[in-house]
Amino acid sequence: MSERYNLSVIIPTFNEEENIAAIIGAVNDVCSKNGIQAEILVVDDNSNDRTIPIVQDIVRRCENVRLIVRMNDHGLSQSVVDGFRAARSDILLVIDADFSHPPELIPRFYEAIRGGADIAIGSRYMKGGDIEEWPIKRRIISLGATAFGRVLFPEITDPVSGFFAVRREVVDRAPLAPRGYKILMEVLGKGRWRSFVEIPFVFRDRAEGESKLRLETMLDYLRQCCGIIWFSVTHRTGPVWTEWTKILRFGVVGLSGIFVNMGLLYVLTEVAGLYYLVSAAFAIETSIVNNFIWNDLWTFNSGGRLRFTRRLHRFVSFQVVSMGGLAINMLILYLLVEVGGIYYLIANLAGIFAAFAWNFMVNRHFTWKNV
Ligand code: GDD
Ligand code: MN
Repeated sequence: MSERYNLSVIIPTFNEEENIAAIIGAVNDVCSKNGIQAEILVVDDNSNDRTIPIVQDIVRRCENVRLIVRMNDHGLSQSVVDGFRAARSDILLVIDADFSHPPELIPRFYEAIRGGADIAIGSRYMKGGDIEEWPIKRRIISLGATAFGRVLFPEITDPVSGFFAVRREVVDRAPLAPRGYKILMEVLGKGRWRSFVEIPFVFRDRAEGESKLRLETMLDYLRQCCGIIWFSVTHRTGPVWTEWTKILRFGVVGLSGIFVNMGLLYVLTEVAGLYYLVSAAFAIETSIVNNFIWNDLWTFNSGGRLRFTRRLHRFVSFQVVSMGGLAINMLILYLLVEVGGIYYLIANLAGIFAAFAWNFMVNRHFTWKNV
């Protein structure tokens, strides 16, 4: 690697004639004020406005600025990947051209990586982060995309952020797919990393020009998520795999609970001669205890000689969440049958699925938060 630069700032552009000169100036300013030797890589998808000549003019004056004009395979993620490959320093940072990402924060990303983090992520959804002036429709779309992303990366509040920095080794040999809008998800799913930090920032909507988000983009996103899941399943490493192992184990434990529940219901009713609703209450509670034990020892692997009070605390939490799951299951069953006119056994499948999602999410984030 070149000794000259200690940071590569990658700016993907498509028709940014109103912003590009100003953002390059701002990045240069903040870096030189903070003693960072930064190179700037503008990766343009052959814009048909004045972006290219404007950057060419800057390149003539500033030797740390480079322009890559891409002629085919148009796309934001592809452009960022090309930027990674062309970069000449060990820390890579991606920032939008339209001032949605405040360049003043660049030194914090830089220091985070120098301080040992493999990835530094600008987050709109953690304390201190926000989004200014987004129409409600965009907010909902973004929240949906983020929620989906968080299923894959539950520790990260903003896995679809476009403002982030990575250590070079993280992406060096990663098979980053050339499609998809959310390059950070790709890096998180396929890159080699252990530690990350999030840095809150306020996302400002572009003052100039139009955003390029469309339905196609969303379909690309779903495809990308599937690709990441597939990668994690075939490679069996990384954070997504760890998470999916938990989901699978939680599901297996849930199935064991159904057997305990049914078995006990049968035995207590037929053999012990109890009234079936009384047996059911015992059966349900026993299956909750069964599920707790397996989840505590296996799914979330809290291991070893743990303090009894902690475990009891988790059990109470699990119990409450399970009752909530039961209520959700019954409510959905009732609504689908009574309002939707759906056959009750089918309706119950939807209820079980919803309860499973609820149980997993809430227990994952509360009951076993600290293990
Ligand atoms: N090279 C290239 N090719 N650049 C592109 C392309 C493309 O096809 N499409 C957009 N860009 C550039 C824009 O010029 C801008 O610098 C940046 O990528 C972001 O594009 P916007 O169109 O402004 O994106 P946005 O505001 O909708 O999306 C932002 O929010 C997302 C999170 O919700 C971006 O910051 C995304 O990076 C981010 O993931
Ligand atoms: Mn934007």
